[in-house]
Amino acid sequence: MHPTLLAPSLLAGDHAHLAASAQTVAAAGASWLHIDIMDGHFAPNLTFGPETVAALRRAGAKLFFDVHLMLDEPQKYIEAFAKAGANNITIHIEPVYDHRRTLSRIRKLGCQCGIVLNPGTPAAAIGPLLDQVDLVLVMTVQPGFGGQTFRRDMLPKLGQIAQWRKERSLKFRLEVDGGIDLDTARECHAAGADTFVAGTAFFKAADKPAFAATFAAL
Ligand code: DX5
Ligand code: ZN
Repeated sequence: MHPTLLAPSLLAGDHAHLAASAQTVAAAGASWLHIDIMDGHFAPNLTFGPETVAALRRAGAKLFFDVHLMLDEPQKYIEAFAKAGANNITIHIEPVYDHRRTLSRIRKLGCQCGIVLNPGTPAAAIGPLLDQVDLVLVMTVQPGFGGQTFRRDMLPKLGQIAQWRKERSLKFRLEVDGGIDLDTARECHAAGADTFVAGTAFFKAADKPAFAATFAAL
C-alpha cells in the first residue's frame, strides 16, 4: 500500500547540534524525521518543544516532520507544533480528551494526523478512529527513552490493525516505534508495518545511507 520508509528519531541525535543531526538524516537519503515530544507526565522524560521544531525549519530542514506527542493534554499543543512546521502530528489514545475532535483539528491545521497506542493498550481502543487517521503508530516499547528492547509481543496487535486496514479498505500508514533495527523491522514488516522509527540503530549505524536504503527495500 505504502512504500516502506525509515523515520530516524531525533531523540538519539546530538542534542548539542540538532540541526546537524537533521542534516545527517537527510544526507542518508531518509525523507522523514521522527520528533519525540514528552511532558514528564505521560512519559517520564522531557525532550523538545515547538521552538525546537521551528528552529530546525529555520535552519533549513526540508524533511517530513513526524511529530510524536507523548503528552497528557496534546490538544493544547497541536496549533503550536503545526505552526512550527510539523507535517504529521500523532496523539496518544490513553489520555482522556476529545480524540476525534483533536484529530480533525490537526487536519484543519494542514497537517496529517496519527493515533498511537502504548504496549498495554489493546488495538480495539483505536478501532472507531481508524477511518479518520493518516497514520497508526504501534509503540514497541513503553514511551520515555531510546535504546530500549523491542517488544515482540506487540506483533499480534500490529497484525490485527493491518487486518482491519485491509478489511475496511483504509489507507493509513502503519508505523512502529521502539527498539527498531534491521531485524526487528523485518518482523514488523511481515506483520504489516510500512513506516519504521529508528533512533539508536540509525545514529549508531556505520553506513547510514545503506541503513536507510535497506528500509526502503523491505
Ligand atoms: C520512545 C520514543 C522513540 C525512541 C526510539 O518513547 O517514542 O521514538 O526515540 O528510539 P530507539 O530506536 O532507540 O528505540
Ligand atoms: Zn517516538
